[in-house]
Amino acid sequence: MLRILVLTLTVLWAHTAIAKTVLITGSNRGLGLEFVTQYAALGWDVIATSRSPDDDEDLLTLAAANANITIEKLDVADLDEIAALAAKYKGTAIDVLMNNAGVFGDRPRQAWGALDRDLFRQVMDINVFGPLKISEAFADHVAASETKKIAVISSTAGSLASIRNPPGAPYYAISKAAVNMAMRGTAMRLKSRGIAIAIFMPGAVDTRMLREAVGLTQAEAEAATNYDYKRFKPLTTKESISQMIETLDQLTLDRSGDFLNYDGRTIPW
Ligand SMILES: NC(=O)c1ccc[n+]([C@@H]2O[C@H](COP(=O)([O-])OP(=O)(O)OC[C@H]3O[C@@H](n4cnc5c(N)ncnc54)[C@H](OP(=O)(O)O)[C@@H]3O)[C@@H](O)[C@H]2O)c1
Repeated sequence: MLRILVLTLTVLWAHTAIAKTVLITGSNRGLGLEFVTQYAALGWDVIATSRSPDDDEDLLTLAAANANITIEKLDVADLDEIAALAAKYKGTAIDVLMNNAGVFGDRPRQAWGALDRDLFRQVMDINVFGPLKISEAFADHVAASETKKIAVISSTAGSLASIRNPPGAPYYAISKAAVNMAMRGTAMRLKSRGIAIAIFMPGAVDTRMLREAVGLTQAEAEAATNYDYKRFKPLTTKESISQMIETLDQLTLDRSGDFLNYDGRTIPW
């Protein structure tokens, strides 16, 4: 009996001593849920945040089966929630801060001739100010860790060098160009603290957002699992996330603030 107790305590101590911690935004579906799945399987402590955790059945089921997943409520556009979560985890080292949450925005409300300022503000708040403010709020937690990495999931939609036609979802494209600058500047600011930042294009990955991007309405995109894209084959979340985790793992300070494809190749700004 005593031997079992000592063994259990030793295993718990070893886990606490070596386990790394990742905080992920938008953890309840799509890329975020797969980040949670893969980091948990790697043995990391995962702080999986979402704006409506009580309804997130997939995330709740995953957390019930993995003791190393802790679910926290975080709407990335809610400044009080950001401050409260940063205060709650004050003193906790966070190895990787994964700014994943994002919105595409209703197409009709960003169509030329019907530009809607409320939607513009909402998309910018979630896709740009959220990651910037969360990076500020958690910079000390990341600086206190061994790994010291921050990532944001951006998109080639925000690449000025790649644009050929007016974007179908201009607010989304504008927000991703803006978050690239926000995080590049943050990378320069945090370099002296040893923090490296990745600005990622995850690839075209089969999630609700990609289905919206190819023209489905939000309701259709939610319903259309196994959607047939016809003209291209998207990545699975598993393929994209495993390569992004690997690329982030390899990231060094000299490449901090670079715009990176999920597989580590550099993307033009
Ligand atoms: N899939 C692709 O091909 C692709 C390509 C380029 C970039 N990206 C980027 O990848 C990231 C993840 O997207 P995805 O493809 O996984 O899309 P998704 O399935 O639509 O997931 C978006 C996630 O963001 C969350 N979210 C939205 N607003 C939020 C808020 N205010 N606070 C907290 N969470 C919020 C959503 O939560 P709710 O369920 O509460 O709405 C959901 O968990 C996004 O930043 C997106 O721009 C995706």
